[in-house]
Amino acid sequence: MLVSAKEMLNKAREGKYAVGQFNINNLEWTKAILLTAQECNSPVILGVSEGAGKYMCGYTTIVGMVKGMINELGITVPVALHLDHGSFEGAKACINAGFSSVMFDGSHYAIEENIAKTTELVNACNVLGLSLEAEVGSIGGEEDGVVGAGECADPDECKMVADLGVTMLAAGIGNIHGKYPENWAGLSFDTLAAIKEKVGDMPLILHGGTGIPADMIKKAISLGVAKINVNTECQLAFQEATRKYIEEGKDLQGKGFDPRKLLAPGFEAIKATVKEKMELFGSVNKA
Ligand code: 13P
Repeated sequence: MLVSAKEMLNKAREGKYAVGQFNINNLEWTKAILLTAQECNSPVILGVSEGAGKYMCGYTTIVGMVKGMINELGITVPVALHLDHGSFEGAKACINAGFSSVMFDGSHYAIEENIAKTTELVNACNVLGLSLEAEVGSIGGEEDGVVGAGECADPDECKMVADLGVTMLAAGIGNIHGKYPENWAGLSFDTLAAIKEKVGDMPLILHGGTGIPADMIKKAISLGVAKINVNTECQLAFQEATRKYIEEGKDLQGKGFDPRKLLAPGFEAIKATVKEKMELFGSVNKA
């Protein structure tokens, strides 16, 4: 069964740990993340970008695949299926398809329009008991071809959006998607503390979890971050493991080409990456 992210994130905020959101791209990634969550006895959030949604044949296919896997693999830890950086239309499509959580990224709209659209989605999610993530202040880097520039969110705007009744809030604090540049200034903890001061108990979300040093992750959690998104690190681990396997020529041995063998090293690499993050975020044995 899929669950809303609300309860797991409130527990994380109270317990001073964070739940990992790991983005999925295909069956192997999904299976690797679900099995690792079960092995770690950790709650988990599966993130789906709109691009990955198209790639995996649409949102209803994904809902069917994830529910089927939870059942067939005997997954008992809490799992939320979450739209990552959704458009307004994408969020509505995921709500209709059976996702248990959605993000509406209205950060590129003027605050008034962000508020109007977020309010409509708050109502739709409340009716069905789904969790909703809103974003204030664009997260830098590239996400599905959209490039933003590492902003720090305005704490007053964060309060305005939090007060609409969203479940969780992604606020830019200098974080960016993808690899961090050499001259990255680091997370702005002053901004994070000012946002926390305004929004109180609302679970805060840290995007761009790849490459943030462990001490910054821990400090962010201590200041109210309850969900951390990781995508690029799984992609890099998958790519590197697959490249190595092909270079070693193992897929050409034995009975010939076997796609299951080709994808196995990447699958294991994702499992290892997810386990490492769950340990760092402190979510192990918190299911
Ligand atoms: P990274 O790709 O930097 O890990 O960020 C993932 C993310 O924030 C997805 O929303």
